[in-house]
Amino acid sequence: MTIGSVTLLVIVCFCSVYAQSSRKLPDDFNIGVATAAYQIEGGWNEDGKGEGIWDYMTHHHPEKITDGSSGDVACDSYHKYKQDVQLIKSLGFQRYRFSISWPRIFPNGFMNKVNQAGIDYYNNLINELLANDVEPMITIYHWNLPQNFTNFGGWTNPQIVSWFTSYAKLLFESFGDRVKLWITINEPKQICVFGYGTGIFAPGLNYSGVADYMCTKNVLLAHASVYRLYDKIFKPKQKGRIGITIESVWGEPGSDAEEDKKAADRMIQFDFGIYAHPVFHKNGGYPKVVEEYVARRSSAEGFSKSRLPKLTPKEIDYIKGTSDFYGLNHYSTMYVKNKLPDPITNPCRIKDMQVHTYDDPSWLSGSISYFRLVPWGFRKLLNYIKNNYQDPEIIVTENGFPDYGEIEDNNRIKFHKGNLNAVLDALIYDNVKVKDYIVWSLMDNYEWSEGYRIPFGLYHVNFTDVNRQRTPKASCGFFKDLLYTRKL
Ligand code: NOJ
Repeated sequence: MTIGSVTLLVIVCFCSVYAQSSRKLPDDFNIGVATAAYQIEGGWNEDGKGEGIWDYMTHHHPEKITDGSSGDVACDSYHKYKQDVQLIKSLGFQRYRFSISWPRIFPNGFMNKVNQAGIDYYNNLINELLANDVEPMITIYHWNLPQNFTNFGGWTNPQIVSWFTSYAKLLFESFGDRVKLWITINEPKQICVFGYGTGIFAPGLNYSGVADYMCTKNVLLAHASVYRLYDKIFKPKQKGRIGITIESVWGEPGSDAEEDKKAADRMIQFDFGIYAHPVFHKNGGYPKVVEEYVARRSSAEGFSKSRLPKLTPKEIDYIKGTSDFYGLNHYSTMYVKNKLPDPITNPCRIKDMQVHTYDDPSWLSGSISYFRLVPWGFRKLLNYIKNNYQDPEIIVTENGFPDYGEIEDNNRIKFHKGNLNAVLDALIYDNVKVKDYIVWSLMDNYEWSEGYRIPFGLYHVNFTDVNRQRTPKASCGFFKDLLYTRKL
């Protein structure tokens, strides 16, 4: 190589790095930040709040939580919400996604007892956000079910459709004059698979391939019921939008072999298609491949019907088209290969799927290996949603990185930068309708069965300090700069 060509190469590299680092955010591209009630609020039994399934599990089965902790105090946001709003505002975020604690509103889950102090708390938070020019976005259900419902099977009981609808109705009546963005349910997969299949999440039931599928059908119907209620009764006056949030993994075929391509598709259908297809696909209903694989195995196991409860034609129609946007939580890509069927033993969702998944060790990952920076996987996923689900508007309702608690959290910055670039590529070059990106999470918080070990926050929280002091990490600087300059 001559000196001239080396110089040229250096100039080209410099220019492309510079071009990349100074990429402009479209004017209507919106960036927000998220949390969830159980993970930050604390005040678990204050002012009339009832017991939730996470309260119960952490108090009675602390062995299920890696560090034995609970969300009893968490970030103490029940008392510090004003401070939280200032943290959000000071970084320039335009939107705050938070969730409502069902047992704070209905202590035993049912309508016969409303906790006014709970309503007041969220009214105060919403008013504080609006007074500081931050748009509130509410997740109606982010996992802390009133414990009382566990006596009746929780999400496996079809009656939950009506319980959930009554709860949502009160929220629309109480907050809908000011809140214009709603998410019915956060991450059905985690609710059903972890809560009722593997049991690592509350309520801790361990009936994979049975209870998780029962839950799936009820979650879909509950979501649809709340969507339809809002759409018909509240939307004409309140003029908001409402959708479901589905955590979606990208599955890349592990080889060009036909069987691996099919396996990757199968993984996608079991992972998020089972929730997304009924709502967003033009034909609705479960993905055919999921129905076939579960039915085949169920019959080999001696079940007279598939373990996947059927959706009737009426239910398929009722669920279809019930989302104003695709709420996308994305955290991971994986390679997928076909797997020969496991011997028939007990029902198991993983065995139904018949796939083998693995990652590439060179992908940046944090303190949990599931969370991986693979921007091309993110972009492919966005395109998949566009092409298979009638080109919906997509709101990235979560994206975030777990590290080891560094204040100089450069990997978190790398993660968000890489993924934001993927989102912008999909928007600009592929015409995917994705103009909203919400960061998980505002501050370190209670990471479910991992307790406080796994931080995702832009702010560090000192959980040993009674004041739960919040300290900005380097990623705060990154977002503040990004939101001010609007240059990535
Ligand atoms: C998904 C969930 O919505 C949230 O509660 C969780 O903390 C993050 N992802 C990270 O695991």
